[in-house]
Formats: sequence, structure tokens, C-alpha cells
Amino acid sequence: MIVLGIETSCDETGVAVYDSERGLLADCLFSQVDIHASYGGVVPELASRDHVRKTLPLIMEALDKASISKTDLDGIAYTAGPGLVGALLVGASIGRSLGMGLGIPTLGVHHMEGHLLAPMLEAEPPQFPFVALLVSGGHTQLVKVEAIGQYELLGESLDDAAGEAFDKVGKMLGLPYPGGPRVAALAENGREGAFDFPRPMVNRPGLDFSFSGLKTFVRNTIADQQDGGGNIDSQTAADIARAFEDAVVSTFVIKCRRALQQTGLRTLIIAGGVSANLRLREGLQGLVDQLDSRLYYAQPRYCTDNGAMIAYAGCKRLQAGQRDDLEIIVMPRWPLDTLQTPG
Ligand code: KG4
Ligand code: ZN
Repeated sequence: MIVLGIETSCDETGVAVYDSERGLLADCLFSQVDIHASYGGVVPELASRDHVRKTLPLIMEALDKASISKTDLDGIAYTAGPGLVGALLVGASIGRSLGMGLGIPTLGVHHMEGHLLAPMLEAEPPQFPFVALLVSGGHTQLVKVEAIGQYELLGESLDDAAGEAFDKVGKMLGLPYPGGPRVAALAENGREGAFDFPRPMVNRPGLDFSFSGLKTFVRNTIADQQDGGGNIDSQTAADIARAFEDAVVSTFVIKCRRALQQTGLRTLIIAGGVSANLRLREGLQGLVDQLDSRLYYAQPRYCTDNGAMIAYAGCKRLQAGQRDDLEIIVMPRWPLDTLQTPG
């Protein structure tokens, strides 16, 4: 089955073609970062308008790269939520219209299910069941995954998502949007232990997270370290980035250890934009080595938003016979654990 995947939930237009026999045939991406950078964050209306401009050209490009014509498609999957309502509507309307025109089934896919299944696109995919740490700009969740559509929420962030915390710390340090990868790059020059930041909520039982206290701690530390002109020297900024990253990573290591022990599972996957973070990967690799378990993640391109993960998740569900009804529905809020096994 050959499926076109369309991702337009936020500030990336992603279009990909996935073939259940041959794997990923094409994967095209347009990032709107330059459009939103001067505002310091995503402007929803600008995001929607740019998806309108980019989605069709990217579909043509993806079909071309895959060396297929639109009539070779067997199905179309698009992100139906969660995300920005206007942005979601662009991908949903285009996906549904194209599907109707071609007379093929379409399906609205859950964005976080897409992230969660992205490691399946790698040469050595994980096997169910596993624990998934989902860390993106909008979500931080620990999920027990039995199969596609069988998701038990073990814990989640009570306030900011991990990526959001990275982005806000980036802003505090004067880095351009999105701050996450830039904070990580700055932290490379930081000295371990130069500052010691709290590990939020690790002394409480349970698997929930909270990053707002850590964020305030970073803000106060920056204020303490600024000179009279409000400037901070570059080594201190790097040390703060490093201390923040270390606090986030060790919080995830502690909670993932707990999740693996609580579930008795020995496979951990990480997905979502923050799973591209090298120190997080290293920290969790150390954990699974100790627990005689295994860690899986996608290559960086498939950690952040992309069309490939939507094409893959859509393909699995369409193959099982799941289809959209005639109406076009998008869900800006859509709890992952309300999904069901297809078929
Ligand atoms: O999954 P994603 O592309 O979009 C959402 O679904 O939200 O995640 C984007 C988030 C942003 O907050 C970005 O700063 C963060 O992932 N991110 C990173 C890194 N790469 C992306 N955070 C820390 N380290 C990175 N290397
Ligand atoms: Zn995402």
C-alpha cells in the first residue's frame, strides 16, 4: 500500500510517501522557522497561510521524488491533531479533497502517534511492547505502548513541555527561536557542575513532570549573573545552558528508570523534537545499559515534525481498514490515550 502523508500541525510543512512494501519513497519538508523567528515564536495565522502556499508544491515534489504519479497512491494520511486549528485544517482539507478526487481512502492521524512510531522507520525498529518518552514542543509524556493504538499514559508534564522549556531558556539566554537546538549547542561549551540546578519532581512518587520551577531557577540564576548593563559573559551563559540541560536529562533518566521498573518492560523509545538532543540520548543509553534494556530513537530528521511519521502511522491504520467518514474533522486537543487499535 502506498500512502501519502501530510503534516501541517505547527510550523513545518511535511509531505512524504511511504510504501508498505518498499519503505519510505520520498520525504519533503519546508520549515517556517524564518517566518516566525522575528516574533520569537510561532504566529498561528502566518503558519496556516504558509501551509496553504507550500503543501501542494511539496506534494508534487514528493510524488516526483518517489517516481510515482498521484494515481499510484492507495491512501492519504494527514495530521488531524493535536496542533494549531488553522494549520491542521490546511493539511486536512487538502488531504481529504485529494483523496475524494482520486477515489482513495484518507485518514486523520494523531500527531503524537506519528512521533511515537517514527523509530519504526529505522533499519532496526523496536518491537512492541515498550515504554515511550514523548518529548516535543507541546508534549512531555511517558506512555506504555502495547501495540499501535494501545497507549496507557504513565505520566506527563503538569506545566511546560520539555521543548517549550528549552525554547524559553533559549529566549532568556538571548538565543533566536527555536531555542532547543541552540541551547544544546551552547551547552557543549558549558562546564559540567559549574551550576547545580534542581531536578524537578524526582523526589515525589509517580511519573509526572514539571519544568516551570526549573525555568524560574534558570531565570533567577541569569539575573544573579548579569552585570549592571544586563549582560552575561559567554562562558557563564554556556555553563547555565549546560546545567539546565543536565537537570532535564537527569530528570528524564530518573523517570524512565521508574517507568521501566514499574512496567517490567525492557525497551525504551524516545520520540519528538527533544529526542534529537544528544545528551538526552547518551543519558538514556547509560540507563538502559544498566537495566539490560534497549533504547531506540529515530534519526534527527524524524525526531522533529515531518511527513514520514504521518505517512507511516497512516499506512498502518489504513492497512487495517480504518478510514475517515465524509466530514473533515480536526482536533486541536486530542488525548493520545483515547486512540484505539485499528481494525
Ligand atoms: O516534535 P517537534 O518538532 O514539534 C512539536 O510537536 O512540538 O518538537 C519541537 C521542539 C522544540 O521545542 C525544539 O526546540 C525542540 O523540539 N528541540 C530540541 C532539540 N531539537 C529540537 N530540544 C533540545 N535539544 C535539541 N537538540
Ligand atoms: Zn511534533
